[in-house]
Amino acid sequence: MQAFSSFYRKEGKKLGFVPTMGALHKGHLELVKQAVRENDVVVCSIFVNPIQFNNPRDLAKYPRAFESDVALLKEVGCEVIFYPTVDEMYPEPVKKVYEFGKLDKVMEGMFRQGHFNGVAVVVKKLFDIVMPHRAYFGEKDYQQLAIIKALVIMENLDVDIVPCATVREVDGLAMSSRNVRLVPEQRRRASLIYETLLKARNMYPVSSVGNIKKEVVNSIDKEPFMELEYFEISDTVTLEPITDKKPDKAVVACIAVYMGDVRLIDNMILNF
Ligand code: PAJ
Repeated sequence: MQAFSSFYRKEGKKLGFVPTMGALHKGHLELVKQAVRENDVVVCSIFVNPIQFNNPRDLAKYPRAFESDVALLKEVGCEVIFYPTVDEMYPEPVKKVYEFGKLDKVMEGMFRQGHFNGVAVVVKKLFDIVMPHRAYFGEKDYQQLAIIKALVIMENLDVDIVPCATVREVDGLAMSSRNVRLVPEQRRRASLIYETLLKARNMYPVSSVGNIKKEVVNSIDKEPFMELEYFEISDTVTLEPITDKKPDKAVVACIAVYMGDVRLIDNMILNF
């Protein structure tokens, strides 16, 4: 992979990179399509990164679909797939511990211990191996995007991070590789996540942060198929939850729910 990338870099070609864990859906493919439009060569990695899973059951059940992933990538013009094994990525036990300050302590970081360190370790390794000029990440994983931006600054990485809008199903559910694990009844009701985010956005100009939170907690509590893990309204840059509205600051509502043992996350900017 490094030899390939070095060759194209020497030729003056721009390399775009889309890191994924596979089981590709239209959300991933939008990232790849944008990368194809903006670069000469596009690399997509497929690697289910064990060290970012805090729950072994989630790792064991993570969907894998290599053959169909390859076909989908070909269709959208991605020419190179990097598909390493766990031993290749982790020839030695990982010692690196990143310090992201508050960024990895809130929300996902609070409920998924070690998750963002695992993401940062793998993304740094992938950047070192693939050596892209630009790397594409979805806003669907808002906190992950913030961590990656921080990683690039912290490690002086010469990679442009390109954020891409969340791609949704027709009923608003954010596309996710985990959605295939929802049984039909859960899937039908999963659109409530998006609906509560819309409600929060509509309430934001006229309601207090506390009232919006109460309303969201109530709507999720009423849904027997869903259990709320967190709902926060946070500063878009620091990701610190706010308690009072700040007229000059962009804020993002972030939510995590369980439907059975499937964990789903989503977010929406409430102003700006
Ligand atoms: P994965 O969940 O496979 O997602 C790969 C990329 O696709 C991420 O940047 C994610 O934000 C983006 N993505 C997923 N669903 C999306 C949607 N509905 N709309 C737009 N973008 C979407 O995120 C990871 O893998 C891993 O943590 C990884 C960065 C590869 C490190 O292991």
